[in-house]
Amino acid sequence: MTPALRLERRIIIISVAFVLVLFGLAAMAINLFHVGLPTCLTDIKPFQKGELITHSPTHYEVHYVARMWEFDPEEVVVPAGSTIDIYVSTPDVTHGLILLGTNLNLMAVPGVVNYTRVKFDQPHSYQLLCHEYCGTGHERMAANLRVVDAATFQAKKAAPAAPQQTDPAYKLLEAKDCMTCHSIDGSEGIGPTLKGVYGRKTKLTNGSNIVADDVYLRESIVNPSVTVVAGFDDVMPKPELTDEEVNAIVEYLENLK
Ligand code: CUA
Repeated sequence: MTPALRLERRIIIISVAFVLVLFGLAAMAINLFHVGLPTCLTDIKPFQKGELITHSPTHYEVHYVARMWEFDPEEVVVPAGSTIDIYVSTPDVTHGLILLGTNLNLMAVPGVVNYTRVKFDQPHSYQLLCHEYCGTGHERMAANLRVVDAATFQAKKAAPAAPQQTDPAYKLLEAKDCMTCHSIDGSEGIGPTLKGVYGRKTKLTNGSNIVADDVYLRESIVNPSVTVVAGFDDVMPKPELTDEEVNAIVEYLENLK
């Protein structure tokens, strides 16, 4: 065998070995570390209605409709330890769906249903955002996915539906999208609940302890990043409010026992 042939044979052996090692590593990643193979496309037909389907107490299926400019359903609550199959469809334009703090990232493309499966082990409030520019309302496109402990989940299921709110200040909070992250029924969301907020002893992320008075309430509405409550992320956008509107909201919060 000539030296050239020998060299050629060596090159072939080395490249085959590389390919085998690559396959071996891929197999190891799938079996040992449960790295999923991409399984984005499904044979589910595009849908127009969002819903949460319960398969078992630890297995759920969410159909998200991404449309200009909201996600349906806007809030999903599941118990910790659940596996969720997430399907996303859109009736209008291309949207993106990202669940902050996780590696969940799907595109919502007209005519197609995209899919992924996630497991949530710990209670946490996740924010679902649209990350594909989809028009003037794009930055408002957000939803909540709350993973709660089993007891909270049971209590929520047993609780009667909240009564309709008619207070103009509440309507204003809703119109400014405040209620996407805050509740008035005591449940924590992306932000702390507004129930009983006035006079509440509150620890801030800067380590200080304060009592929420009207100066603090005003500040945290007008300049949300200055005082962030411990345990929450600095994600609240500055709302566009007139002085009168801020006054009305602060007054409403003071009476929200
Ligand atoms: Cu939908 Cu951006």
